[in-house]
Amino acid sequence: MMEIDRRAFLATLGAGSLQTMSSEDKAEALEHYLMGQLEGPKARPEGDGGEADALLDQENPQPRGTGRLLLPPRRPLEPMPEKPTFVDFFRLRFAPGNHVLQSANHALKTGQPERTVMACLLHDTVLELIKADHGWWGAQLYEPYVDERISWGIRYHQALRFYPDESVGYEYPYALYNRIFGEDYTPPDYIQRAYQYARNHSNYMEARLITLNDLYAFEQGVEVSIEPFIDIIGRNFKQPPEGLGNDNSPSAHMWRTIADANKPL
Ligand SMILES: [Fe+2]
Ligand SMILES: [Fe+2]
Repeated sequence: MMEIDRRAFLATLGAGSLQTMSSEDKAEALEHYLMGQLEGPKARPEGDGGEADALLDQENPQPRGTGRLLLPPRRPLEPMPEKPTFVDFFRLRFAPGNHVLQSANHALKTGQPERTVMACLLHDTVLELIKADHGWWGAQLYEPYVDERISWGIRYHQALRFYPDESVGYEYPYALYNRIFGEDYTPPDYIQRAYQYARNHSNYMEARLITLNDLYAFEQGVEVSIEPFIDIIGRNFKQPPEGLGNDNSPSAHMWRTIADANKPL
């Protein structure tokens, strides 16, 4: 399970900044730190994540809610095939995707329903495009192509991750947050409302299982390939024959932006 070096993490926040951070900022900082530990520094598209990249990122900081694909590209992104599939997008835009692959792998190894494996594989992929409210963005991106329970789970995992559920052994990140900052974290109102709604919904467990598998998906040095999931994707993702982005679905524009965010309008 997740281990975190409290001092190393606090050092990344910089001297004195803790006092000026809102609880929401702290919660985000903690999650980003865990992600960063797993995937390394996020380079701009095609950047190498080295010192020069870090400097450029410092000079032109992106709004924190934007994903890597919305940063000014240093070199062109890999071209997409003419009729791109979900797997093409995964390999060419969402990779390496260690976190989602690890969580899907945990769901698979522990015999959870196939749609949960699928939901785990998709749950945070939209972070490459946008981080703010990623549950809602991710749900909309996938809604036209998956079982309603999968996109529902993706939408509400964002709120549920802040709330423990002893019945399934879920306690992160309250416990973690409290341990690191020595104080309680209260999520913003809309997250509280989303949680209350989801808690009383018959699909509750769809989202809860995503947060549970999340706990096992921050392991450094563990690389999972997408290969074992190809058949599961085939059964759970309605791939449009004309390719994602060319299909006129309610989220086709989002796929086009992920393919190429460097268009003028
Ligand atoms: Fe997430
Ligand atoms: Fe996650």
